[in-house]
Amino acid sequence: MSDAPVAADLDRLLDRASVSALRDPAPSGAVLDRILETALRAPDHGRLTPWRLLLIRGDARQRLADRVAASLRAREPGVGDALVERQSSKFLRAPLVIALGARIVPDHKIPQSEQLMSVAAAAMNLLNAVHMAGFGAIWLTGANSYDPLVQAALGLSAPDMLAGFLFVGTVAEPARPARRPALGDHVAEWTGEPARWPADVRAG
Ligand SMILES: Cc1cc2nc3c(=O)[nH]c(=O)nc-3n(C[C@H](O)[C@H](O)[C@H](O)COP(=O)(O)O)c2cc1C
Repeated sequence: MSDAPVAADLDRLLDRASVSALRDPAPSGAVLDRILETALRAPDHGRLTPWRLLLIRGDARQRLADRVAASLRAREPGVGDALVERQSSKFLRAPLVIALGARIVPDHKIPQSEQLMSVAAAAMNLLNAVHMAGFGAIWLTGANSYDPLVQAALGLSAPDMLAGFLFVGTVAEPARPARRPALGDHVAEWTGEPARWPADVRAG
């Protein structure tokens, strides 16, 4: 049997790249639902279903931008208007922003790190699904996403976490071809002795 279809699918995964120049339209309707479903296929130790995806579209993006601006001013009194504008207007640059909420169950036998990793796995599924559906996306965090005021505006408070934002839309400008790491620097066969990574060898 030919492996051509499998190879083509893998090629699609391998040519995903983050895209920051995004325009209208974003995926919507049934296509968006199918993209979002992929998040719910993330591995999930203990079936805790920690994924909480908030879709921020249309005017809601301006409302989020306003909250980000207010939070930044509260965090850094005296911050310049230009920086506030730069930080907050990011949320208007893609037609769809997905806030990646992690509903954390504290004091559970499943460590919190695993609960957060499940949300990260969901994010990766979403990035791949967006790409395979013919759209573009980028995953960003930054100080705003760690700000409790921004998190509270989204309805998240400790121990819940915000794993950042996916910015999603139509690719306005494809990402410049990225230099990708070499497989041999990151994959090795373990044969019974501690692995020596090429990067470690270079550093030593
Ligand atoms: C959790 C997480 C947070 C990130 N936050 C930022 C960020 O705030 N700013 C940024 O420039 N890149 C950030 N990145 C990196 C980009 O999402 C992206 O991976 C990078 O631009 C490389 O592009 P690639 O996905 O095509 O390799 C983040 C990545 C991850 C996994």
